[in-house]
Amino acid sequence: MDIIQLENITKYYGDFKVLDNISLNIKKGEIISIIGPSGSGKSTLLRSLIQLEKINSGKLIVENTIIFDNNKKIDKKLKKDILLKMGMIFQNFNLFPHKTVLENVCEPLILVNKTDKKEARKTAIDLLKKVQMDGKENNYPDEISGGQKQRVAIARALALNPDIILFDEPTSALDPELVNEVLNVIKNLADGNITMLIVSHQMNFVKEISDRIIFMDKGKVLTIDTPKNIFSSENKRINDFFSIIKK
Ligand SMILES: Nc1ncnc2c1ncn2[C@@H]1O[C@H](COP(=O)(O)OP(=O)(O)OP(=O)(O)O)[C@@H](O)[C@H]1O
Ligand SMILES: [Mg+2]
Repeated sequence: MDIIQLENITKYYGDFKVLDNISLNIKKGEIISIIGPSGSGKSTLLRSLIQLEKINSGKLIVENTIIFDNNKKIDKKLKKDILLKMGMIFQNFNLFPHKTVLENVCEPLILVNKTDKKEARKTAIDLLKKVQMDGKENNYPDEISGGQKQRVAIARALALNPDIILFDEPTSALDPELVNEVLNVIKNLADGNITMLIVSHQMNFVKEISDRIIFMDKGKVLTIDTPKNIFSSENKRINDFFSIIKK
């Protein structure tokens, strides 16, 4: 089953076409990485999927629900419910600095799901174990490392039991020795059930984890293919990108 369907998605910033007629289908449980040069529209694509950015034209369907269809009216309640089934992880963690690790993970449960505090704490403690952050429940974000912050952000995204998680360069703000701990947590989430879209420059990780890789260039999907085919591609644009990444 296709969990995400994009048909001719186009987006402009002013006169600049940042997403250029993108069509693709993603199956439930697929792990998709998005790679490509800086400015090619990777972040904008993820942000548009979760509606942090306005799409100008095309059609976006998630879990059989129309999220955007040109200027047609859509069911706002259905759209809101589906958007809650999508989580996003950002480069800079976006934790609440004045809340503890535990409170950060409880927050969506209490505010969005209206879970009672005791139950929310229980769920949050379990989620923090899942990302190997038990023992740090009562620390504040500025008392933990970047890799730990990102793992808390992942636990917080998992709190609403998402069907889809979008990761936008989850490790690029981290010191090199902290990258793997976050990548390992992401790898452990891949259970065939949750669908993940991951923008990452960690090519070994991308190669290992992805079912398919999207290569973006100048707002277009240049190709979407298996890691094997992408990494042995003879396309000049793709090879130029790999040679820059390796430098
Ligand atoms: N809010 C904005 N207003 C105007 N232009 C923007 C805005 N956000 C992004 N852009 C432009 O849109 C293009 C795509 O940006 P985007 O952030 O999606 O690229 P990216 O592929 O994620 O790049 P990177 O690898 O550097 O993160 C860039 O040319 C960028 O300058
Ligand atoms: Mg980006």
